[in-house]
Amino acid sequence: MLVPTTPPTPDSADMATSLDVDAVLAQLTLDEKISLLSGIDFWHTAAIPRLGVPTIRLSDGPNGVRGTRFFDSVPSSCLPCGTALGATFDTDLLRDVGHLLADEARAKGAHAVLGPTINIQRLPLGGRGFESFSEDPTLAGLLAASYCQGLADKGIASVPKHFVCNDMEHERMAVDVQVTARAMHEIYLKPFQIALAEAPVPAVMTAYNKVNGVHASESPYLLQKVLRGDWGFDGMVVSDWFGTYSTAAAANTGLDLEMPGPARFRGINLLHAVNANAVSKKAVDDRVRNVLKFVSKAMGAGIREHAPETLLNRPEDQQLLRRAAADAIVLLKNEQSVLPFSPVKSTVVIGPTARIATYCGGGSASLNPYEAVTPWQGIEALVQAQGPLEFAQGVYGHQMLPLLGKSLKTVKDGKTGFELRVYNEHPTGPAPQGETDVRTLVESRHVVDSNMFFIDYSHPNLAKNGVWYADVEGTFVPEISGTYDLGLAVQGTAWLYVDGQLLVANAGPNQKPGTSFLGSGTVEETGSMYMEAGRQYNILVQWGCSKTSQLKVANMIDFGHGGMRIGGCRRLEVEEGIAQAVAAAKAADQVVVCVGLGSEWETEGEDRVTMALPPNTDKLVAAILAAAPNKTAVVVQSGTPVDLPWVEQCPALLQAWYGGNATGHAIADVIFGAVNPAGKLPLSYPRRLQDLPSHINYRAEAGRCLYGEDVYVGYRYLDRAGVEPLFAFGHGLSYTSFELGQLSIDATSNNVSVTLDVANTGSVSGSCTVQLYVAPPAWEPRAVPALPQRPTQELRAFAKVHNLAAGAKATVTLTLDAVRDTSYWDETDDAWCSRAGVYGIRVGQSSRDAKAVEGTLTVEKTTYWKGLKP
Ligand code: BGC
Repeated sequence: MLVPTTPPTPDSADMATSLDVDAVLAQLTLDEKISLLSGIDFWHTAAIPRLGVPTIRLSDGPNGVRGTRFFDSVPSSCLPCGTALGATFDTDLLRDVGHLLADEARAKGAHAVLGPTINIQRLPLGGRGFESFSEDPTLAGLLAASYCQGLADKGIASVPKHFVCNDMEHERMAVDVQVTARAMHEIYLKPFQIALAEAPVPAVMTAYNKVNGVHASESPYLLQKVLRGDWGFDGMVVSDWFGTYSTAAAANTGLDLEMPGPARFRGINLLHAVNANAVSKKAVDDRVRNVLKFVSKAMGAGIREHAPETLLNRPEDQQLLRRAAADAIVLLKNEQSVLPFSPVKSTVVIGPTARIATYCGGGSASLNPYEAVTPWQGIEALVQAQGPLEFAQGVYGHQMLPLLGKSLKTVKDGKTGFELRVYNEHPTGPAPQGETDVRTLVESRHVVDSNMFFIDYSHPNLAKNGVWYADVEGTFVPEISGTYDLGLAVQGTAWLYVDGQLLVANAGPNQKPGTSFLGSGTVEETGSMYMEAGRQYNILVQWGCSKTSQLKVANMIDFGHGGMRIGGCRRLEVEEGIAQAVAAAKAADQVVVCVGLGSEWETEGEDRVTMALPPNTDKLVAAILAAAPNKTAVVVQSGTPVDLPWVEQCPALLQAWYGGNATGHAIADVIFGAVNPAGKLPLSYPRRLQDLPSHINYRAEAGRCLYGEDVYVGYRYLDRAGVEPLFAFGHGLSYTSFELGQLSIDATSNNVSVTLDVANTGSVSGSCTVQLYVAPPAWEPRAVPALPQRPTQELRAFAKVHNLAAGAKATVTLTLDAVRDTSYWDETDDAWCSRAGVYGIRVGQSSRDAKAVEGTLTVEKTTYWKGLKP
């Protein structure tokens, strides 16, 4: 694939930078208007050339800019996942991140980034929990605002998503989320409210699910009352992809743009509805005006229509990616200062995620990064022959077999990867030796990634009936003799041959639905054979697109063409692998154990069923901790909390998330002390799943999911119920220590300043995040009228002191809005209410900081308010 490295300079001289929206609207025909209300393909809006309306490109988001292709996409910067960015508690960093995303968007010819994702992790099991920032709406909202502002600074549109309550994957299009108005406003809408209040946000994406009986994309409550009414939002409302479910209701309610195209519910259906007066011409004009306003703003970016996609990968971007990934790492435990390790001592790196770059969660957030550094590579680069370095696998941690692509070579010229050949005719098995395939080749490509999702693939010569086939061919030379497992997961049908012999078939009436391809594909079918080291094996996969499969997955989106995923590796006996790792751990001075989940365990389309790490991982970690108790650091890579049954025995523990391109470098930087960790948990780490009330109401049951915990999400419940978390919201250690001075609270105006000193009392420089929690006045059980109970404390502000030298002191000021930050949603009055009373102010280094410094804030009069801000 040849990709230009420099973005084309926008030829702004001949490009208009905005539209006269009303003038354009007045000249559009009804057909033209309707054409503007749905996409033309997966990623583009419709153009009206005669009136100078260009096509606009939208691209996923949120942790990078993938461009216009899932399959064989142009590489890009992959940022740390949402929860990782959440752990930085750093609005300045998020603005820098927005700037990088804007530059990547420009390089990919995209006017808008589909992000940030600001749904709420009610429970750690959500398949997309990794994508959102936090369980706390204020943290999520303020980080989102900085992200959106960063994009806006450079002329690129943000599209916060998914509005609202798309907090799990199970039956995500069908589930009816039943939630009180209070929880909706205080928890789920609030991140959107803050982002819209604090940053220019030109569009919002609706959620797939229903909220209180109505799909979000056609909900009068959400779109008309809250978004347009209370909040006065005048931007564009775009559906999630295939998340439009009606013609008239969605158009009348206020869903401006149906995506992707071509139209399913609009186009001729909308024309018919207008002709039948089921949708008024005024409603059409309102929708078109919003789309045109969005197009007009997007034109300001000066990006050409259908611009080619290019590479960026500048040194300063690589530095930012590494800084962001390292700043996100949370040091959960560090007994007897086991960490940082020394680069001159002997180190062994062990574990299933040590040599795999666990850089991103799965689904539409995933992208093809410029590089993806494994922890092993990061440590190797940092230690660089200063001290002996060993590796031991221990056990595997994959759900499906590791991708085979990088281990293959092309038959013709021995390049890493394989050849993909596309045909319109179906295969008849491998061509006999010496004979070539008689089918007409549509195209042939060199590909490396053997997880191929053809969702947005197109070729002018593909058969018009949409039925097509592809062969994958490469050679495989094992390094070690042994039994090898090879596997195929498909949306479609496929057969895998080794040297012409069928080894795996995933086709026919018995295909089983699985988690592949956003939940629309099959489970992985596997086969195994003995392979000899050094011998070359021919691997051929013959695949048919989704239309060749009889599998129909209930409640799933039909992603068109489908996909195939080819995996394989040498089989490892668990006991043998653990014994080898234990021996290596005993022999080394320092032990790093890398474990975690990854893009198959945490993915769009599928929630996890337990918090457990992959099978055998706990067995490995327990064995290493028993054998090397005082010299082991465990690195967990996951987007959301996992069970840690060996935590009491573990002296040093890091939560390293999915760190994007630089994930392995960042882990090495923290382990060896090049970076002093400063990340703070943006999610509570429960001791067990059952400690969070949402575990009772998690999946869709009889079509609905009751948000029974109400506003008591995460720490709001744990605090209220007095349940001890394993690690509290906001927790995170450092290689130094900080002390907080007394609070000075200036409440002479509504903008309250809370000032304090932060002192570095340790021996190395480090960064400290101070967190301000507001506690409501004591609740009176017999008060008349009865007042609602409230969470015992809620995060309302935070600030980060960067690189404070050992022994140094800094003064920090946190600001509060006295009305906004004391308010709850009053369901009786359908408004926010700041009730007169004395509120507690606690500033600490976590939500459970025993040394938090305290003060009070007196609110003199009760205020009701609506809108984005008081
Ligand atoms: C996801 C969105 C994403 C869209 C386009 C949907 O499945 O829910 O977040 O932006 O696909 O990839």
